[in-house]
Amino acid sequence: MNKYLLKNFKRNTIIVAAAAVTAVSFTQCSPKQSESISAVPNTTPINDPTKGLKDYLGKYFKVGVAVARQSINRDSALIIKEFNSLTAENDMKPGVLHPSENTWNWKNADDIMAFAKRHNIAVRGHNLLWHSQDARWFFTGPDGKPSSKELVLQRLREHIHTVMKRYKGQIYAWDVVNEAVQDGADSTVIYRTGSPWWNLFKSPEFIEAAFRYAREADPSAKLYYNDYSSESDTKHRKIYKLVKNLKDKGVPIDGVGFQAHWKINSPTVQQLKTAMDEIISLGLDIQFTELDIDIRVPAALDPNVPAATPAAGASAAAPVDPGYTPELEALQIAQYKRMFDVMKQYKKHISSVTFWNVTDRTSWLDGRGQGGGAASSTAGRIPRKAYPLLFDVDGNRKKAYWAVVNK
Ligand code: G3I
Repeated sequence: MNKYLLKNFKRNTIIVAAAAVTAVSFTQCSPKQSESISAVPNTTPINDPTKGLKDYLGKYFKVGVAVARQSINRDSALIIKEFNSLTAENDMKPGVLHPSENTWNWKNADDIMAFAKRHNIAVRGHNLLWHSQDARWFFTGPDGKPSSKELVLQRLREHIHTVMKRYKGQIYAWDVVNEAVQDGADSTVIYRTGSPWWNLFKSPEFIEAAFRYAREADPSAKLYYNDYSSESDTKHRKIYKLVKNLKDKGVPIDGVGFQAHWKINSPTVQQLKTAMDEIISLGLDIQFTELDIDIRVPAALDPNVPAATPAAGASAAAPVDPGYTPELEALQIAQYKRMFDVMKQYKKHISSVTFWNVTDRTSWLDGRGQGGGAASSTAGRIPRKAYPLLFDVDGNRKKAYWAVVNK
């Protein structure tokens, strides 16, 4: 990573400091609506035991959370109080739900659906086609040889029909296709190569088929294309092109999922708006599907990460996890506020915002390396927690919670 990140990081620090002393209020305008919003994060708690995020933000969009099976027991009270949308973090993915042709693991997905129903919480489905956690058996025929395209499409159709019909009318939105866009700066390579899907089809035919099968199976469900880094300079245009191609061909698609695995220093407000404007120009809805804001930046750039004193005889000094410091907290609060201010402004185009995991105690990011994400190099990595959510490790509301709730 580079000077740019460091510069941004320092600039953000200055912005937070400035915000703390400058009590200004400004009016943000969008073509659709305007609303007075304070520029300073207001982290004062509201003392109302009856309300949760779903109530505070309900006039803007549904507020959801991704859960593992165990979290609907462990965190049930918090989930019921705060959220009005649920997503299975893993339990509806093809490889988890349908690991071989005649094996279906319905238990966890059914339990999550039953919990949602009991507590009157809507459900968004994740996902029907992905290159990861996929049902690998799709790609091997009964004779042990690679499957034909026809056989894979037949299996895909059966899979989508079986899952969507089981929960017909109970899932308001599905991530039909997940992460089919190629990362990287080469704007000519739109579709993710190297996946079993692309290796077989060499065209977006499988993406189009998945959306058509999904519409057949449950016409009441809204259908989304879902991806990460959706605001990045290298990727937003590729996502736009993929989706526009679907629209041009009359493929049934209702919206785009922005995963929103964000950092304290990215995306910028402008990047987010640019990416959303493109999708809106296609007449599509937006859902933020996997929101979290990681406090970690690469250790080498992070002034909050001190290098440990090397033990006698040891060669290199490993960086130390600074934890959830007040400085990192302030940067996270500021980023949460910036992002929610934009989302509130665009509320007419956003139908739900889902957090990826419930509390800072258990985030998928903690299992990943420094800075989050599956970086190709492990050099300089240290195990650091990401503290990316609105509830702390004990399930208490963080200051960032109030920064997104308050005006
Ligand atoms: O369930 C097994 C368990 O039986 C086994 O003992 C254990 C040993 O590692 O693994 C468990 O499975 C893990 C699973 O999470 C459930 O905890 C997998 O190894 C692990 O790879 C899997 O990670 C999930 C990841 O997707 C897979 O790529 C994360 O929980 C989940 O949060 C993450 O979610 C994705 C979205 O679907 C798509 N967008 C990105 C997002 C974050 O990567």
